[in-house]
Amino acid sequence: MDQPVVLITGALTGIGRAAAVAFAKKGANVVVTGRRDEAGSELVEELRAFGAQAEFVNADVRNEDDVRAMVDRTVARFGRLDVAVNNAGTEGQPGPITDQSAETFNATFDTNVLGVVLSMKHQVRAMQEKGSGSIVNISSTYGHEGAAGASVYVGSKHAVEGITKSVALEVAKDGIRVNAVAPGPTDTGMLTRFTGTPENKAVLAAETAMGRLGLSEELADAIVFITSAEASYITGHVLNVDGGMTTN
Ligand SMILES: NC(=O)c1ccc[n+]([C@@H]2O[C@H](COP(=O)([O-])OP(=O)(O)OC[C@H]3O[C@@H](n4cnc5c(N)ncnc54)[C@H](OP(=O)(O)O)[C@@H]3O)[C@@H](O)[C@H]2O)c1
Repeated sequence: MDQPVVLITGALTGIGRAAAVAFAKKGANVVVTGRRDEAGSELVEELRAFGAQAEFVNADVRNEDDVRAMVDRTVARFGRLDVAVNNAGTEGQPGPITDQSAETFNATFDTNVLGVVLSMKHQVRAMQEKGSGSIVNISSTYGHEGAAGASVYVGSKHAVEGITKSVALEVAKDGIRVNAVAPGPTDTGMLTRFTGTPENKAVLAAETAMGRLGLSEELADAIVFITSAEASYITGHVLNVDGGMTTN
């Protein structure tokens, strides 16, 4: 088969960026999306240096016109969409339930949940046309556990996992696989914002069996695997990549 055509949301930093680099190193054609044109152009140059064909599309996943355009431009440029990585996410405004509001709820769910729904709607449309495809949604170990002080984010990631499994069942006979990757604490800008201090970060690292944070590159390797032909009989699955944090 030709090199896969891969679309990644929220690809300008952290896990999404590492996934873009990992796919590019394997020779994939990569469309990276995000909200900042200059950073997008820089990333495209970096990916092309690996010999990949790469494009940037400015897309906010909360906006259906942006999402439709990111999928349509991928298909117009490369002829099809093979792999989609729905990575864009926000930690929202962590804090106790008494501090939450309709605004903090919407700000979190609009990106983490509506963004995934809109993205899959248009990705599945493109994949059904050719009868195959592979989607991975980036959840969290908090997508199947509770976490004090993070109720809204936790709820949004629980939603991502339920939606992932439901869409996997809907489209399995169309030749489309839908899975989730659930990172444990991974050393990115989001974790730095979420924890607030190096001491809090160290506490999370200590909660893993391996006693350390994950690297974006380790998450990227799991994303590449679960979307690849090597995972051809896996669908509706949530893959923890968490240094054993959720292993009892
Ligand atoms: N790091 C962890 O410990 C951890 C653990 C579990 C799950 N996760 C999940 O992993 C994914 C990647 O996060 P990360 O850790 O790599 O953090 P990150 O570096 O903050 O990456 C999040 C990316 O999403 C983009 N984004 C946010 N809202 C968006 C929107 N409405 N439209 C388009 N892009 C948007 C951000 O772009 P801007 O720069 O424009 O804001 C950013 O590039 C997220 O879904 C997160 O929930 C992370």
